Amino acid sequence: FSATIYLNVRFPNPEWDWETIDTSKIEFPKKFLWGAATSAYQIEGDLTNNNWFVWERTKQANGRDRIMRGEVAGKAANHYKLYKEDVKLIADFGLNAYRFSIEWSRIEPEEGKFDLKAIEHYRSLIRELKRRGVEPMITLHHFTDPLWFTAKGGFEKEENLKYWLRYANRMFSEYQSEVQYWSTFNEFNLYPLSGYLEGGFPPGKTDFLLSCEVTRNMLLGHIRTYESFKKASYTQKHQVGAIIAVLEARPFNRWFIMDWIAAYHEERFWMGAMLEFFQSGRYNISLPFKGSYSFNDTDGVRAMDFFGINYYTRTAAIFNPFKTPMFSRLQMSGFPKSDMGWAIYPEGLYYAVKRIAHIGVPMIITENGLADANDTQRVLFIRQHLYALSEVMKEGYDVRGYYFWSLLDNFEWLEGYDKRFGLYAVDYKTFKRTLREGSKEYQKVIKRFPGRG
Ligand code: NOJ
Repeated sequence: FSATIYLNVRFPNPEWDWETIDTSKIEFPKKFLWGAATSAYQIEGDLTNNNWFVWERTKQANGRDRIMRGEVAGKAANHYKLYKEDVKLIADFGLNAYRFSIEWSRIEPEEGKFDLKAIEHYRSLIRELKRRGVEPMITLHHFTDPLWFTAKGGFEKEENLKYWLRYANRMFSEYQSEVQYWSTFNEFNLYPLSGYLEGGFPPGKTDFLLSCEVTRNMLLGHIRTYESFKKASYTQKHQVGAIIAVLEARPFNRWFIMDWIAAYHEERFWMGAMLEFFQSGRYNISLPFKGSYSFNDTDGVRAMDFFGINYYTRTAAIFNPFKTPMFSRLQMSGFPKSDMGWAIYPEGLYYAVKRIAHIGVPMIITENGLADANDTQRVLFIRQHLYALSEVMKEGYDVRGYYFWSLLDNFEWLEGYDKRFGLYAVDYKTFKRTLREGSKEYQKVIKRFPGRG
């Protein structure tokens, strides 16, 4: 099966001729979620009780800071305090949907002790959104873990899923009457890859087998959460999704077999293995010199009501014998790049939808956007990606919504604060928000197709 995926890589890479394409020819259905997305750690501020807080303050083995310029999330965009104003910004923009994450370390600061104030805070956020006609989507986990959970080994241990489930179920019972859209883990392909195989994210481990186990535990965590929410749901209207980071890696040099092998591994670790799991119930992955890992759980097949796609870029793999664990370096050339250095490749969104459609559930673009401090690329980026999305939907692919990343400028993990993803710019001294000119392109599209969620 993996060989099929591998051979399916198309050459020459089809690319659209943006000079001649009429990007005003887009169409979106009446019922469509037009949203923006954020995550707690990146915008709320004053979070000190999770693994990222500690991570920011530890050094790498070579003495360098973990985060660029030694930055820390700190007050972030001060959103925990300013949430009411931010909800107004969401509504003023014209959005009908908003995806945010709940910070587990606020809700359950100590094992088993739930903070009622924090629970009320998110309830108030939800009510504010609904009052203004904005459909909330909750992400239960967006990269951060409470410190007490980390101390127990976090997702390294299957037995710890009981803590995760207790938290998830509590959230569902608190908010299920008001929130229809739920997602479990944000990018649970990336969390084990970054945290346990490549080591850039906490806990900074580089252990192949452990990364596989974390992946497995998170997959099981997702399945159990899904099943448990479906049982507990009063209305059956709830939509519970799984969200992954979509990244396709092609061989950099298509005439060089080693680049194909590098691309194959990148591809399997990023997307291939996980997509296959949701299709077949079989997870199977291997790495040269490290071994292989597989497990089966047919409960995983289509264990979701929607599949969430976080799409940013496409990339290419170059074989590099010194770069463990995949002997590969990712690099794209010949494309305009965002401030992250990521190639702007709208066609990739079109292909991502087609590929993920094989799972057989509706899709939502849960993130798409760019870092663009000078606001010079945002207009084209928005136009082209929405064009790509509209094209694939015209072919009949079932996509229910689109969430721009992000509502506000925010703390971009290892990159810190200079990457500006916001529809609204944030002044980190005064916390003033200002709508970016380029963002208005998105607003225009929403006005043309004012769907409801
Ligand atoms: C995906 C992540 O979910 C989000 O936290 C991050 O800021 C964006 N990608 C941009 O890198």
